[in-house]
Amino acid sequence: MKKHTITLHPLGKELQVNDQTPLIDVLHEFGIEFPCGGKGTCGKCRVRLLGGEIETTPTHRQKIEQLGLGTDWRLACFSRCTSDIILEIEQFNHLILADESEFDFTPGEGFGVAVDLGTTTLVAQLIDLSSAKVLAVETMLNPQVKFGADLISRIQAWMDGNANEMVQLIRSAIGTMIRLMLKKHEVELKKVTIVGNTTMQLIFSNCDVSSLSSYPFHTNDLGLKSFDPADLGWNFNVQENVQFFPSIGSFVGSDILAGIAATSLYQKEDYTALIDLGTNGEIVIGNKNQIVCASTAAGPAFEGANISMGMRAVTGAISSLNLVENKIVASVIGNTVPKGICGSALIDAVAILRELDQVGMFGEINSGAPQISITGKVMLTQRDINEFQLAKAAIAAGLTILTNQLSIQPAAIHEIYIAGGFGSYINIGNVVATGMIEHDPSKIHKMGNTALIGAKMFLFADRGPADQILAITRHINLEGDPNFQDIYVDKMLFPI
Ligand code: FES
Repeated sequence: MKKHTITLHPLGKELQVNDQTPLIDVLHEFGIEFPCGGKGTCGKCRVRLLGGEIETTPTHRQKIEQLGLGTDWRLACFSRCTSDIILEIEQFNHLILADESEFDFTPGEGFGVAVDLGTTTLVAQLIDLSSAKVLAVETMLNPQVKFGADLISRIQAWMDGNANEMVQLIRSAIGTMIRLMLKKHEVELKKVTIVGNTTMQLIFSNCDVSSLSSYPFHTNDLGLKSFDPADLGWNFNVQENVQFFPSIGSFVGSDILAGIAATSLYQKEDYTALIDLGTNGEIVIGNKNQIVCASTAAGPAFEGANISMGMRAVTGAISSLNLVENKIVASVIGNTVPKGICGSALIDAVAILRELDQVGMFGEINSGAPQISITGKVMLTQRDINEFQLAKAAIAAGLTILTNQLSIQPAAIHEIYIAGGFGSYINIGNVVATGMIEHDPSKIHKMGNTALIGAKMFLFADRGPADQILAITRHINLEGDPNFQDIYVDKMLFPI
């Protein structure tokens, strides 16, 4: 019998199934629920087709339309596998951080949508501009993941002739998210503000990203982009316009600009730092007079890449580790058997292994063994620990170099905010224990999705804060600092 492969994003799972296998038979163990029992009325079993084909009957198409889903969605309860397919499974949406933090605003009129367009995930919120109340939230995996997880593979895919598809995919995904929110609340939109990293901004705006593939990684297209919804292929009206906020540098985008707005560091006398531990690691330090920022190569290890049993924060990932009576106790997402380790638990693991004196200050496994068992079948190898050292050193070196650029002492940094979905799950004590951030833990605070908070603030204030921030912000190339290598190597050591 013919076999097909189903690839599940973002779990990174591949299943081999027989031709004509109903999706309902294979997806339930991955968290897909079928509340209406396959009648096509609840839409809870929806999956997004990122690649391949799933044939649809007229009834299936009608159900998709009635539920307000785009043409790339399928109801798993109506679908069979007849070719190799790539699916985004809905369960992941619960794990994306949609922030509802409060912020200062001047009440306005009407409704707006704020969007955080991430390399991996998309979050949109419908906001009542008179109260800043969040009326609806939609989250989705960035459909460009089929071209690779990181920015470099996206840029390469663009250069390989996929530009049109990449632009259409992201515009249509955000249009679908907004439409789904408008289906729940039939209101007329006044504005849409979007923030994201520079590569995401350029692709959404249909601007060439190929110059970001090689030295000097320069683009002339950092500025604010405004769009008419019809030009984006969106079939709803926006009274004013759709604005993608300006990037700060080639690898520091408007998500960080929004983060600076969210922390209000640009209005403070004291120096404040913002560290975003997303797919890329970005660092900002500044006050009301001057701000410096940089991107680092810290992200991939925290996303599970390059770590032998690393995975994203999805079902089966160990999300945290604690030492209880000298025993390592793991929390696993979904309370299932641990299959791997995600970034937050990687930090815990290294801090605990240091505390147990199983790992030395150079990162060496003291027993000389090639790997250490964390729990069950989950192991950390010598190479994993070295990968972690590279990532934590990138953050620590970035903080030091930016502090030097400002000619201030580390003690002058009053507060440090950690942003990003991953940042919300980390144990700050363990971050400090590994030397990733060499500051008093009482100064370090988690701040959730600062990009989304900032994008919401931009709904109320037009360009004002953005222009004010850009006027005092310098983008620093860390590798260009003459002391970078020495500082970086030094920061790879663990504190004694
Ligand atoms: S189970 Fe309700 S729509 Fe599929």
